[in-house]
Amino acid sequence: MTVGFLGLGVMGTPMAANLARAGADLIVWSRTDRGNTPPGAVRARTAAEVFGKAGTVLLMLATEQAIDEVLAGVDVSGKLVVHMGTTSPEFSAGLNDKIKSRGGRYVEAPVSGSRGPAEAGELIAMVAGEPADRGETARVIAPMCRQTVDCGEVPGGLLMKLAVNTFLISMATGLAEAFHFAEAYGLDPGLLRQVLDAGPMASAVSRVKAAKLVTGDFEVQAAIRDVLKNNELIVEAARRRDVASPLLDVCRSLYAETAALGHGEQDMAAVIHGLRATRRPAP
Ligand SMILES: NC(=O)c1ccc[n+]([C@@H]2O[C@H](COP(=O)([O-])OP(=O)(O)OC[C@H]3O[C@@H](n4cnc5c(N)ncnc54)[C@H](OP(=O)(O)O)[C@@H]3O)[C@@H](O)[C@H]2O)c1
Repeated sequence: MTVGFLGLGVMGTPMAANLARAGADLIVWSRTDRGNTPPGAVRARTAAEVFGKAGTVLLMLATEQAIDEVLAGVDVSGKLVVHMGTTSPEFSAGLNDKIKSRGGRYVEAPVSGSRGPAEAGELIAMVAGEPADRGETARVIAPMCRQTVDCGEVPGGLLMKLAVNTFLISMATGLAEAFHFAEAYGLDPGLLRQVLDAGPMASAVSRVKAAKLVTGDFEVQAAIRDVLKNNELIVEAARRRDVASPLLDVCRSLYAETAALGHGEQDMAAVIHGLRATRRPAP
């Protein structure tokens, strides 16, 4: 069965490439000419063309607005629509209702892991929807994932994704703060990286981000703009349940400041610019 893929951005391009490598009969589309068409895949001119040809359509689109715009002009009847980007759980629950009322099936499968894991086919997908649709989705997306985790009904996948990103954002921001502290005391950032990489707190994420902080190479894995969006989704969800989110409240200000300084399209490690610009009040 033909699989459709919409959204060839930072994540979508390597994800679609892994599907094609695994032999999927693939048709892809992006709003612009951005992103390589994987070898063997067909590039559609419109999203409607993808829905006309594919039985399952994967969405890796930036925002809720992008999803609404793309789905407004297509016929989802009889199709399995899989939302793999990150939006609010409420938006996803509404999408579930809309797609089902238009005769389609819906699964959310947000992913943990940025560009590196996407390239390596090592994303962790959090799959939610009707039980049979979850199983079908897990089989289709397997070539892009190290693991797919069953998260029950919609919006269980997106709620899980927000919990996971709470840890990611606080950890990566804490790492940038460690380098900021070291910088202020004239410590060698290369030595700090050596200690951290050798120590018990090292992870795939901390190693990649520490390298970026040492070299100042902020080529994007996860953009400041996108992390700010994720951070806002988490804080809004926390407020709705009266949950304390002190770390993510501070991170939101830092990512907003970093974006305002013009670093929105750089990797999240560039949050160190926001830290440098933040003045502490005199004691
Ligand atoms: N980067 C990460 O580390 C990461 C990790 C996990 C999840 N996510 C989530 O996955 C999603 C995609 O992330 P990304 O980093 O790949 O984002 P991205 O590079 O900004 O790409 C997003 C895609 O959305 C499309 N798009 C944007 N606005 C649109 C509109 N109004 N109509 C139609 N298409 C539109 C873009 O198309 P054009 O460029 O062709 O215009 C592009 O194909 C986001 O929801 C993000 O939060 C990202």
